[in-house]
Amino acid sequence: MDFKQYILPHIWNLKPYSSARDEFKGNEGIFLDANENPFGSATKEHWNRYPDPLQLEIKKELSVLKNISDENIFIGNGSDEAIDLLIRMTCKSGEHNIIICPPTYGMYEVSGNINAIDIKYVPLTLNYQLNIPEIIKAIDSKTRMLFICSPNNPTGNKINRKDIYTLLNTYQSGFVIVDEAYIDFSDEPSFIEELSSYPNLIILQTLSKAFGLASLRLGMAFAHKTLISILNKIKPPYNISGATQEQVKLALKNIDFVNKSISEIKIQKNKLISVLEELNSVEQIFPSDANFILVKFKKAQELFNYLISQKIIARNRSNVALCDNCIRITIGTAEENKALIHQIISFYQ
Ligand SMILES: Cc1ncc(COP(=O)(O)O)c(C=O)c1O
Repeated sequence: MDFKQYILPHIWNLKPYSSARDEFKGNEGIFLDANENPFGSATKEHWNRYPDPLQLEIKKELSVLKNISDENIFIGNGSDEAIDLLIRMTCKSGEHNIIICPPTYGMYEVSGNINAIDIKYVPLTLNYQLNIPEIIKAIDSKTRMLFICSPNNPTGNKINRKDIYTLLNTYQSGFVIVDEAYIDFSDEPSFIEELSSYPNLIILQTLSKAFGLASLRLGMAFAHKTLISILNKIKPPYNISGATQEQVKLALKNIDFVNKSISEIKIQKNKLISVLEELNSVEQIFPSDANFILVKFKKAQELFNYLISQKIIARNRSNVALCDNCIRITIGTAEENKALIHQIISFYQ
């Protein structure tokens, strides 16, 4: 792929900011280069030094975990940062467009709008799969990105793998983003293994879900090394805080916790589904490969308001296309799910 054709020229030619920590790498020495405080920090721990701008130690761990070279890994302040940077890297306002398939994760649209990029909407089919003929029809010479979310948020289902291959094989004049934020809860293999076959494929993952690190803000993009080097060029120099880097290094050694969480969440999901299935108020529970379920209720809006009044916060998706009367429920602990069920039953009594 001739990447230069699909990256905005001012980005391709950008001379990036050279930070103090880019110019000298190492921990030993007298650091008088970055206008830091030499006396330490106003906290117990010391955070007075700027962190590694390229998060190399984390990438080394991730490259083993994900079986991919560290040159193919970008780390963002959440995958939300990667979504925004990808759009800014490729799309010029008034000229290019992106394609998204609602109902899907809201930030593709918001990031497109922030950057004033044309958005083409190709809704999912009624069973929440990609509408391949319509997507292919929507692609034009100005389409720079196609966002696919699998497992999809808010519907929870995985997207048919063969449809993603169809798009990868059909659309090569721009980038296919496969957002795998919930892949750890799915039996589906990651598309990371396809990176060497499709240079225009970009995969997003996050530590916010199965790793339980939403507050630390760490998302990943896996892509061709040319794209990764451009993302590194346009990101803010120190986009991942030192505190996050320290904590994530520890977390990446504790995969046991992640695996236990995943299996417990799956157990709790199945239990919650089997209880909900017995309720008259539940009209449909959609198949889920994620750590949440989308449920169609009678009077969803009223139920949602009632749950809030009982301090149970779910996500009302009733006003989202194809999600009429649906509430998205994140799988909680056994106690939390029990409290939820109790309140749902009380509401309909
Ligand atoms: C599909 C999807 N992608 C990306 C994100 C953002 O994740 P992060 O916390 O890494 O920014 C979310 C968050 O809920 C999500 O649902």
